[in-house]
Amino acid sequence: MTTAEIKHFGLKAGPFTKEIDDTELWLPTSKRGIVEEIVEVAQARESMGIFGDPGVGKNCLLRAVRHALSPKEFRLTYCQNATLGRRDFYRQLCQALGLTPSATAAALFHAVTQHVSELAQQRQHPVFILDEAHLLHQDTLDHLHILMNYEWDSKALLSLILVGLPELLERLALKRNRSLFTRLHHRVIIDPLTPEDTAEYLRFRLGRVGCDRELFTADAVALLHEAAQGSMRDIDRLATRALRLAARTKKKLVEKDHLIAVRQEAPS
Ligand SMILES: Nc1ncnc2c1ncn2[C@@H]1O[C@H](COP(=O)(O)OP(=O)(O)OP(=O)(O)O)[C@@H](O)[C@H]1O
Ligand SMILES: [Mg+2]
Repeated sequence: MTTAEIKHFGLKAGPFTKEIDDTELWLPTSKRGIVEEIVEVAQARESMGIFGDPGVGKNCLLRAVRHALSPKEFRLTYCQNATLGRRDFYRQLCQALGLTPSATAAALFHAVTQHVSELAQQRQHPVFILDEAHLLHQDTLDHLHILMNYEWDSKALLSLILVGLPELLERLALKRNRSLFTRLHHRVIIDPLTPEDTAEYLRFRLGRVGCDRELFTADAVALLHEAAQGSMRDIDRLATRALRLAARTKKKLVEKDHLIAVRQEAPS
């Protein structure tokens, strides 16, 4: 949003930016419960899968988890490029761990497992987060459960957190992937926002930038929810467009017609 548009509504900043600090995330009771569950999984040295539609807030939940885990006890590694073959996947993991990547797949794998064992000796528990895991190559997926085996599969030295769209859950449930699936002790589905959540999220975002009045009419909120279908990313986008439209027409309130216009300009 432009400075003039922000000023028009008497706000301190654009309300729906993705540049929100980890400590300032919207965490209603339902989301706080999920953060606690993920933290408990890491503390129990277990592994999990997190599934949800685009924009429902999977990454933001992980950012809240990152904030909740002590860096002294946990070593979080985040891998976001899941589209790599097995060797490049391990090379990426080596880089993320600060190791010098070797040439062969076997050497890369060895370096990662060696590092995980060393961390255990230093009493640091590694947590590997693999984002966009629905895109993982099958040969990488086939190998992941082997990465979780330590000392004849008798030690849990590593927590693996696979994050992806709902189709990841379907894929993991296939017979071929059962070795991995059975090692993911917890499976969490992040639901899209309910209409009440959407209203609360809007209030939260607007409150953060100094707005303590309703800026969207109830009709506008209902339409926004319908258009965004519970995706926070879509709420951010559509609500910003609607605010800009209202500012352009010198309105202090976002109304139903603004949302109708926004939906027409960008059908979703
Ligand atoms: N807890 C939250 N507090 C504030 N804003 C949030 C929160 N969760 C999500 N958002 C907003 O929604 C946007 C999308 O969230 P996020 O990137 O976490 O979704 P995602 O589920 O990882 O989506 P994708 O599957 O497309 O990667 C964020 O950039 C942020 O603007
Ligand atoms: Mg994401």
